[in-house]
Amino acid sequence: MSKQTLNNPSEIGAEISEKLCADTREGVRNAYLVLPSGQITKFPLSVGAEGEQAVDIGELRKETGVITLDPGFRNTGACQSAITFVDGEKGVLRYRGYPIEQLAKDSGFIETAMLLIWGELPNKKERAEFREMLTNNEMLHEGLKPHFDAFPPNGKPMALLSVVLASMRGYEPKLTEIKSDKNFKPLVAKIMSQVRTIAANIHNKTKGSPWQYPNPDFGYCQNFLHMLHSIPNKPYHPSETEIKALETFFILHADHEQNCSTSTVRIVGSAKSDLFASISAGVNALNGKLHGGANAAVIRQLEGILMSKKGFDEIIAKAKTNPDFRLMGFGHAVYKNYDPRAKILKSVAEKLLEELKISDPVFDLAKKLEQVALDDEYFISRNLYPNVDFYSGIILKALKIPTNMFPVIFAIGRMPGWIAHWREQYLDESTKIARPRQIYTGHTKREYVSAKDR
Ligand code: CMC
Repeated sequence: MSKQTLNNPSEIGAEISEKLCADTREGVRNAYLVLPSGQITKFPLSVGAEGEQAVDIGELRKETGVITLDPGFRNTGACQSAITFVDGEKGVLRYRGYPIEQLAKDSGFIETAMLLIWGELPNKKERAEFREMLTNNEMLHEGLKPHFDAFPPNGKPMALLSVVLASMRGYEPKLTEIKSDKNFKPLVAKIMSQVRTIAANIHNKTKGSPWQYPNPDFGYCQNFLHMLHSIPNKPYHPSETEIKALETFFILHADHEQNCSTSTVRIVGSAKSDLFASISAGVNALNGKLHGGANAAVIRQLEGILMSKKGFDEIIAKAKTNPDFRLMGFGHAVYKNYDPRAKILKSVAEKLLEELKISDPVFDLAKKLEQVALDDEYFISRNLYPNVDFYSGIILKALKIPTNMFPVIFAIGRMPGWIAHWREQYLDESTKIARPRQIYTGHTKREYVSAKDR
């Protein structure tokens, strides 16, 4: 980093142009910032594997006394990460280099999780070992059950999920002290396996059904559907298409780089909080209706249109004119193109409904609404396309999962991503505790007025 101060604008222009030419000759790339004081400061440009560029402003305040202001961190790279690549303009999503379309078609949720967390697709032996660990870790500690008993039947499932995940650390004092992957793998197996047992039994609690235990003979998704829908006198046997639909849902939700909940997990982890505390915080971030709550909001909105029998013109008009109203499942902070996950989910929904012989008016309406929005100038000019949540709820509905459980299912899917990011950050020696700054806009100094004088 270098800095110099010049007063004359033409001198500044000449100086910068000379510096840029010198950089080109030397084959280096720097960015230059000129402040109103005439101070010119050089910042290195960091370039990612896919060519994205970032101005490294790590020393900005130290060198210039100013900070950047970026609400929502939309232009801020908070870390370097090798896990997931998203090109929002082109509608591209890859996990560790593998296109999401290939993983959704040919991979399974557990091997996708292993890919995200450890960086490579597992071989047969590694996959079998991890599957065995998942099976060995699927039973919840009985001490966690009172949380379920104390929870009101109409309570919000995400609240209970967050509480139980956070409470797990009370039973795992050794697993929260991670020194190497040797210890980390059992921790991952425990969380990945038990989040499914917790989620299914949150559903049973809110339904008033008896507790269900996992069946060690079943695969990950089959086991989850079994715990969700079996009752002691009537076991549930999902079809292959149902299992594959859930598997695909989980794979498509497994990671999405620095989204709100993953950033939350990283921020909590940056304070050296353990993985249980970090993922529990991730659940609370995911709970928001602009994030993991959106898929249920899509279904509610579509069902509302059907019930009103007025068609969707009113909703489209409202979405275009009322800034506080959104067409749910449309638009994305990063994708300015069709979300590749929405494309896959639409065809999964098509296949699932056909196999289950379900004629869902909500799905028919969604497809019509999509077409109308995609032809509408308002949506075209703002690059608003269906996002991952537009069709995912149709699939969950067909799997007999009620809307209050939708964000919980999203959380199971997102678990590998949260874990992968927490681990990546943990192993990165350059990690610092997250501590954004602010521009203070409150009162300047004033004198305290005692209570009797107010
Ligand atoms: N319906 C109508 N108008 C919209 C919508 C929508 N769904 N989304 C964005 N816009 C408009 C917005 O009003 C603004 O218009 P103008 O330029 O005239 O002010 C413009 O598009 C840009 O909107 P923005 O708020 O700057 O966009 P954003 O990138 O901050 O918002 C979003 C992204 C996902 C929060 C937003 O598109 C939205 O609220 N969508 C509906 C909720 C939803 O489906 N959420 C799921 C997101 S994907 C899953 C996840 O991340 O968990």
